[in-house]
Amino acid sequence: MSKQFDVIVIGGGPGGYIAAIRAAQLGFNVACIDEWKNEKGGPAPGGTCTNVGCIPSKALLQSSEHFEHANKHFAEHGITATGVKMDVAKMIARKDTVVKQNNDGILYLFKKNKVSFFHGRGSFVKAAEGGYEIKVAGAAEETLTGKQIVIATGSNARALPGTPFDEELVLSNDGALRVGAVPKKLGLIGSGVIGLEMGSVWRRLGAEVTILEGLPTFLGAVDEQIAKEAKKAFDKQGLKIELGVKVGEIKTGKKGVSIAYTNAKGEAQSLDVDKLIVSIGRVPNTIGLNTEAVGLALDERGAVVVDADCKTNLPGVWAVGDVVRGPMLAHKAEEEGVAVAERIAGQHGHVNFNTIPWVIYTSPEIAWVGRTEQQLKADGVKYKAGSFPFLANGRARALGDTTGMVKMLADADTDEILGVHIVGPMASELISEAVVAMEFKASSEDIARICHAHPSLSEATKEAALAVDKRTLNF
Ligand code: FAD
Ligand code: NAI
Repeated sequence: MSKQFDVIVIGGGPGGYIAAIRAAQLGFNVACIDEWKNEKGGPAPGGTCTNVGCIPSKALLQSSEHFEHANKHFAEHGITATGVKMDVAKMIARKDTVVKQNNDGILYLFKKNKVSFFHGRGSFVKAAEGGYEIKVAGAAEETLTGKQIVIATGSNARALPGTPFDEELVLSNDGALRVGAVPKKLGLIGSGVIGLEMGSVWRRLGAEVTILEGLPTFLGAVDEQIAKEAKKAFDKQGLKIELGVKVGEIKTGKKGVSIAYTNAKGEAQSLDVDKLIVSIGRVPNTIGLNTEAVGLALDERGAVVVDADCKTNLPGVWAVGDVVRGPMLAHKAEEEGVAVAERIAGQHGHVNFNTIPWVIYTSPEIAWVGRTEQQLKADGVKYKAGSFPFLANGRARALGDTTGMVKMLADADTDEILGVHIVGPMASELISEAVVAMEFKASSEDIARICHAHPSLSEATKEAALAVDKRTLNF
């Protein structure tokens, strides 16, 4: 006999678990199915983000940043730290504890909100009486029926053709987060978000890091001025980034990995490393869902086709997060999860794609929301730009981190903020003010006239707003 639910969510990552909780808050009887296993074979909800993405990567970034501070920056504060060592096994164990705290937190939230959790793989089966049921293949087999189904099955790392991940020498994000010792030489393919974050972790711990990037431009989606400033900082740190390369044959052996490539000038090169991280983007995941059986439409990338409301081609079936179009970000997945639950309840779910922030958690951090200067030019929008360097910010000087700037772009006629781009300390936190401002359609003058605490990094945002009107006070 099948178990009946109002809403069944397949996938317990940020898109799925949040959709399940919101649907339960709205009074529905909800099931959430997730197949992720911890090392003991038990449930580990939270998806890519919690297990091998956002959370563990930030844990390692934090540990490696402490290490770098102790080695390179304590001295200027008058602190002597000799014999600073990194115990990689302990760092990885701490990361695993942080992950487990998050897994347990989600299981607790399911209980609190009376979401029924099923550990196993969910797949569509055609129901005898028409429609579909969801079969859960886990420790026990169960069949669930739901009035509404939400697909939130996420994404997987893209492998280079002919070079599958072995997670020993050729690593995806999964292997990259559990390297047991600092490699002497580390190679990465792709200088996108993962390449820069993971490259930073292992460089800080002492690896010689080389990133091979196919595109001729560094961080092409980022505002050019900001990307340039970030590149300058990474070059200074010794993070080697080669742009415009064409990766050829990759050989693995006892000595590590050998990558043949041609550089931007077309010259044949080779790179020998102990380990290689391949970070060239991710592919939507519908493996095992049995989408064909029910005729769920997928696009040419394998993403579930949805409309603006996250409705699929099947009645009563929705999809959110990395498995659908749009940026592959945890907070985007969460917003869609909430919106779908609210739409199921007949409410007006809301996701504003224009105000989804991006953050790269390197040092300096890079964060932005809205359009870049190059996008505004391409769109033919008349704009004003203002920027303010952290060099002129008192808090940044006190922190000892004056790299970068805040840059604000506003409409030339209405002064509405169209984009804010930050490279520098705590950009990940500073960007929230810009997101709020843009969500409320604020002008640069609004930010310029708001009192910001002194001394704080956020004063750089106020000053960038003043700079839009050419009246900075501290620069
Ligand atoms: P996922 O998190 O991938 O979750 C999908 C879940 O569904 C998984 O648990 C999977 O096991 C399960 N599943 C799949 N198929 C089935 C099935 N048939 N039955 C049952 N369960 C199934 N984003 C940010 O916003 N900030 C960051 O700092 C950040 N850092 C990242 C770092 C790395 C290294 C990586 C790889 C990604 C990072 N991301 C970050 C991206 C973020 O992880 C994703 O955007 C986010 O996890 C997408 O959420 P989701 O719910 O759509 O899918
Ligand atoms: P990405 O899309 O950010 O970067 C991939 C890079 O690889 C691009 O610069 C691309 O030009 C390059 N590339 C692609 N094919 C190549 C090839 N054959 N040879 C050389 N270079 C090649 O993808 P990434 O870094 O794998 O991350 C995947 C996604 O995960 C991100 O786009 C983001 O959505 C999410 N993520 C978010 C984070 C955050 O929010 N801080 C952190 C990490 C990941």
